[in-house]
Amino acid sequence: MSREIRITPSILNANFAQLDQEIKRIANVSDLLHLDVMDDIFVPNFTFDFEAASKIVKSSVLAVDAHLMVANVDEIAVQYAEIGCASVTIHAEATANIPQTLKNIRKAGARSSLGIKPNTDISDYQAVIDDVDMFLIMTVEPGFGGQSFMESMMEKVRRTRDLIGSRPIWLQVDGGISMTTIEMALDAGADTFVVGSAVFNAPDPAAMVVSLREFAIAYGSK
Ligand code: DX5
Ligand code: ZN
Repeated sequence: MSREIRITPSILNANFAQLDQEIKRIANVSDLLHLDVMDDIFVPNFTFDFEAASKIVKSSVLAVDAHLMVANVDEIAVQYAEIGCASVTIHAEATANIPQTLKNIRKAGARSSLGIKPNTDISDYQAVIDDVDMFLIMTVEPGFGGQSFMESMMEKVRRTRDLIGSRPIWLQVDGGISMTTIEMALDAGADTFVVGSAVFNAPDPAAMVVSLREFAIAYGSK
């Protein structure tokens, strides 16, 4: 089965002191820049507040895929859409009104995305499928880069792929994706791959993005 593949590098493991340079290194070969926003409440780590994130969104040469790992996400999610993020992911575990917030994100001009932590079941969210442009299935506990890929999540990815059916909804996986693990995620039906440490710890980050994409495309045309 051939499907469109997207590689969305996460800058969580990039050098924050020279982010512009880091983004430029992978811009030409990547689909979107995955921006991990953490508030030290929803997850035990902090990355950017809205002001700092806005600066990155506005200066980035790559369109931004914002992954909001923040509590009480409903209002701020819409603001991320309004500042020009191409895609905004809210976590199912952090929102009071999933369908409304997803609709608001779309209305503000971004793709709406619903993220699911490892212990959260996807079946509960079948009802909001028409408000979703992307599902993000976490393949690690959110909070940190460089963790091991949870192969046990592949069943959930498969179920999500079945749920999506013929709808044009992207299926993103996030956490521990590398040249070693991407095949499992492809086999389960993912088409959009967040890659943090495997890209930014590589000697040549752009070459790693290209290798991951080539592997995924070759896999799809088998
Ligand atoms: C984890 C983040 C991920 C992380 C991925 O909470 O959502 O996007 O940066 O990094 P790797 O690819 O190193 O697991
Ligand atoms: Zn992420």
